[in-house]
Amino acid sequence: MTEYKLALVGFGGVNRALAQLIAERNQQWKTELGLTLKIVGVTDLFLGSIIGRDGLDAAQLASLPAAKGAFAQLPGGHAEALNEAVIKESGADIIAEATFTNPVDGEPATTFCRWALEAGKHVVTTNKGPIALHADELKTLARRNNVAFEYEGAVMSGTPVIRLAKQTLAGSEMSGFEGILNGTSNFVLTRMESGLAFAEAVREAQELGYAEADPSADVDGYDVRLKVVILANELLDAKLSINDVSCRGISALTLADIDHARADGARWKLIGAASRNADGSINASVEPRLLPNAHPLAGISGAINAVSFNTGLLGAVTVSGPGAGRTETAYALLSDIISLHNTVASAQE
Ligand code: HSE
Repeated sequence: MTEYKLALVGFGGVNRALAQLIAERNQQWKTELGLTLKIVGVTDLFLGSIIGRDGLDAAQLASLPAAKGAFAQLPGGHAEALNEAVIKESGADIIAEATFTNPVDGEPATTFCRWALEAGKHVVTTNKGPIALHADELKTLARRNNVAFEYEGAVMSGTPVIRLAKQTLAGSEMSGFEGILNGTSNFVLTRMESGLAFAEAVREAQELGYAEADPSADVDGYDVRLKVVILANELLDAKLSINDVSCRGISALTLADIDHARADGARWKLIGAASRNADGSINASVEPRLLPNAHPLAGISGAINAVSFNTGLLGAVTVSGPGAGRTETAYALLSDIISLHNTVASAQE
């Protein structure tokens, strides 16, 4: 049995949900997974920070009010986010990074990952920014410092995609993928099929916690573009940056377009795709596509995501599941921790 000391960086919905899971399930994990998690630090730009080297009360953390500087209410807590101290000096073995995605330069999350890896700490993250923009550098840092760097939650939250494709489908001769990779825009399209106006549907997605801080990142396709870059680079060994992916979102689609599609036995879906050409080059795009109702991705409704991997040996392999959500994304962090635990355990055998 291994007890990992964990520091949480960013304490919005995802890491708060992880704290709640730890409060409820640590004993179960001890038996089922051979590991337990002890939270030794938390930092958040809005809520402040706290370090407790002997372990903090996960249930108390999970119920902290979402008020500015709220960590100052707890003994030993601060109203300021002491990010560097929590990452480097809390005694953590693992840093769970779940701050907001910055699609421009990946900051400050990338700096948080760098600090952690340079200090010899494992990093698990759900953040698309560092992975889409700085994955090579961060992977090299992790290797050099002999620690794990895991990021399953960057695409489709806890639904297995990256490890499934890289590990379980290794050798399947993957040549491309196409997917519904944004819960908000798929939810909006589904609600529009019931006659709701675009703006109202976006507002509902915000209320349900699916949308990014700026929902135009969802409906204009930029969120999917980050995920296409991540999947193409991870699965097809592409070297794409975001400007290599053409990008068009769903904001120009009208209720009339949706109605015409229905009359034709089809549905509009926002599709992120990449494929390898015969000469080895990669085509990648984000665009609304009109799919016939019989298409495997046409029946994916609401905030559910799905991706179809095109493989040489198996044909198309499709996985669908939640692509967003607090507990769903916290599960991605747990799956990363289980993965690094298995790697550490087999290295010790
Ligand atoms: N805003 C994103 C979505 C969250 O709607 O899918 C997960 O990346």
